[in-house]
Amino acid sequence: MRYHPHNRHFLFFVQPDYEEMSRRAARHLHAKVRERPDLLLCAATGGTPTRAYRLFAESWENHRREVSRLRVVKLDEWGGLPPGDAGTCEAYLREHLLGPLGVTPDRYLGFRPDAPDPAAECDAVASALDERGPVDVCVLGLGVNGHLGFNEPGPALHPHAHVAALSRESLEHPMVRHAAGAPLFGMTLGIGDILRARSVLLLVNGAHKREALRRLITGPVATEFPASLLWLHADVTCLCDADAAEGL
Ligand code: GLP
Repeated sequence: MRYHPHNRHFLFFVQPDYEEMSRRAARHLHAKVRERPDLLLCAATGGTPTRAYRLFAESWENHRREVSRLRVVKLDEWGGLPPGDAGTCEAYLREHLLGPLGVTPDRYLGFRPDAPDPAAECDAVASALDERGPVDVCVLGLGVNGHLGFNEPGPALHPHAHVAALSRESLEHPMVRHAAGAPLFGMTLGIGDILRARSVLLLVNGAHKREALRRLITGPVATEFPASLLWLHADVTCLCDADAAEGL
């Protein structure tokens, strides 16, 4: 099933379940890398893209050379967690994407969770992204409050990589439930970095995302719901599962 709620720049595809959504996402990413072998992939973490990353990595199992130029930038990171903590986005990406695909350090850009000066860390990521960017494909999950990365709802959004205050919803995110301590802040690419990406792949699954997906589809473009800014983007593919799309 496919929706055309407003325009042809923002395509929705509803898949029967999480597995099918992930398969389609993996195929989408695979095709993008075939088109552009040195593609710069911006990678969200969290529960949503895990299976898609696994299938994407598996899809290159017998063609590793073809993916040997892929570049990755980490969308966001918790600040204040010990570097080796399993709850960090770094640990997640190493396990699910960088390790399985053999992404070498020269092809990876990411905020260090224990950076001594987080603002300087964000500035360093911003200028590295200026040189290496723009992002070719930005994989995003949808926060239950509409956040993208740690671009949290509020009266204003920040265009570039920055230190972000975390919302209650982010502080309660399952990733950090078992972390050694509570994260103190977030570091995230900005909404401008996302909007400058050549294309966006937004993944949304589960009944707990239903209300956020409804707001995305029906709501106004407003900084109080950062994902709505994606309506300003020229090339968004949103893959969701039937649970998230129920009733829409
Ligand atoms: C988290 C992460 C984001 C992620 C989003 C959704 O806070 N910072 O990178 O995309 O929220 O997470 P999930 O996919 O687990 O719902």
